[in-house]
Amino acid sequence: TQETLVLVKPDGVARGLTGAILARIEAKGYALVDIRLVEPDRERLEAHYAEHAGKPFYEPLLEFMMSGPSVAIRVAGNRVIEGFRSLAGATDPTTAAPGTIRGDYGRDWGLKVQQNLVHGSDSPESAARELAIWF
Ligand code: GTP
Ligand code: MG
Repeated sequence: TQETLVLVKPDGVARGLTGAILARIEAKGYALVDIRLVEPDRERLEAHYAEHAGKPFYEPLLEFMMSGPSVAIRVAGNRVIEGFRSLAGATDPTTAAPGTIRGDYGRDWGLKVQQNLVHGSDSPESAARELAIWF
């Protein structure tokens, strides 16, 4: 079995979508191993988003992620890394497919950063690294 880091980002928490997102994770049969509400400081976010340092959306992304608490979830299951990213849908909520978290709930406000409700690790290496940052 595999583990991944899921974040319900500040827009998801502020809009009261944490329960709906947890329900989708549970309905798929994944296990919630650990969960916590986190108000990340800049240092934690710089570590988490190191791969994006220097990109145009990097600063707005960090500011958005510091705008309120996120819910960090350690999720376990068979091929859960790929499976959760499939549940989440495409990065841009404008075009994310219906039936996905971002497709069903994500809005396009034309902002500087994609406010796309959730984060999911993209590889086993990322998952191990990110789980150590948030738990
Ligand atoms: P995560 O699961 O959050 O990591 O999303 P992802 O893997 O689909 O996207 P990626 O890791 O490439 O980018 C991290 C986050 O930066 C995204 O979730 C968006 O919030 C934001 N982001 C990524 N690419 C862009 C972009 O081209 N423009 C803007 N405005 N924001 C972006
Ligand atoms: Mg990513």
